[in-house]
Amino acid sequence: MRRCLVTGAAGFIGSHLCEALLARGDRVLGVDCFTDNYESARKRANLADALAAGLEFRGLDLTHDPLDTLLEEVDIVFHLAAQPGVRTSWGEDFDLYARRNLVATQRLLEATLKAGRPRFVFASSSSVYGDLSGRPARESDRLAPVSPYGLTKAACEELVDVYRRVHGVSVVSLRYFTVYGPRQRPEMAFASFIRAVLAGAPLCVFGDGGQTRNFTYVTDAIAATIAAAELSTEPVYNVSGEKSATLLEAIAHIERLAGRPALIRFAPSARGDAYRTTADLTAARRDLGYSPEVMLGQGLARQVQAAMRNPTELAEAVA
Ligand SMILES: NC(=O)c1ccc[n+]([C@@H]2O[C@H](COP(=O)([O-])OP(=O)(O)OC[C@H]3O[C@@H](n4cnc5c(N)ncnc54)[C@H](O)[C@@H]3O)[C@@H](O)[C@H]2O)c1
Repeated sequence: MRRCLVTGAAGFIGSHLCEALLARGDRVLGVDCFTDNYESARKRANLADALAAGLEFRGLDLTHDPLDTLLEEVDIVFHLAAQPGVRTSWGEDFDLYARRNLVATQRLLEATLKAGRPRFVFASSSSVYGDLSGRPARESDRLAPVSPYGLTKAACEELVDVYRRVHGVSVVSLRYFTVYGPRQRPEMAFASFIRAVLAGAPLCVFGDGGQTRNFTYVTDAIAATIAAAELSTEPVYNVSGEKSATLLEAIAHIERLAGRPALIRFAPSARGDAYRTTADLTAARRDLGYSPEVMLGQGLARQVQAAMRNPTELAEAVA
């Protein structure tokens, strides 16, 4: 039985990953410090199913708590803890991004050196690429992030690679492309659009809504993450959904699924929001056997249903 550490275990993707690992029979230690990027009550609720399935949990802040014994007997580290989000990474809050992304990753990498160098899987982001002007991103592309968040993720990739080159840590970075599904962070576009449509409230689209993404359903992202832990090959992979779609196409799905029209208000596009990001999945298909299974309409149906079943979401929707 493998022992896995999942950082950011109470977050959107981390909580799904814990559940998937436990369902495979792995022993899982989750770590999170319930940062304030959204309400800690949501994060605690995210953990409920994993705790019921046997998750061992420690409330630790990777930026300053001692990590010496954390990795004892750990075979694989899944490092998902971070300060996510592009728009808020400008200005004063950059300090949070520097500490929760860079400093936390460096401290965790140091801990791996003292713990027999477990496999290290790092949650990176498509934000490292910047705006690709319609061309699918390849892992070998020059990185040109257009937000401070993207820069911290690119720097973390470099950092894990330094520990690979110099200390022989077995690392892999996964560039997730906009992940969605139940428990999505409440400020992310689909989560906030669904809340607004269910409430009959206006929703805000930054830009013209033609922004194109390879939206990734969360269970597909998890499948790639677990597959990457089992390899010792290439250090970086794109992880995305199969087809690209615009924000307006996604909103049309939500209207159909909720049975209500969206009241769309347009606002000027946000700094650092790349207009078009799509992924080349050749390397992930070849090495990880990755094949995204959930189409946008299907995945949004699950997210809308989960929001309709969740009393907190509904209460916020009508507030
Ligand atoms: N959601 C996406 O679309 C997406 C896309 C690309 C990359 N990512 C990356 O995937 C990872 C997970 O993202 P998410 O959407 O689930 O975000 P999330 O905010 O829901 O989860 C991150 C978790 O990390 C925890 N955390 C942050 N700093 C910590 C610290 N110093 N110590 C302990 N815990 C800490 C937070 O409390 C939170 O629960 C992040 O690294 C993010 O950058 C996400």
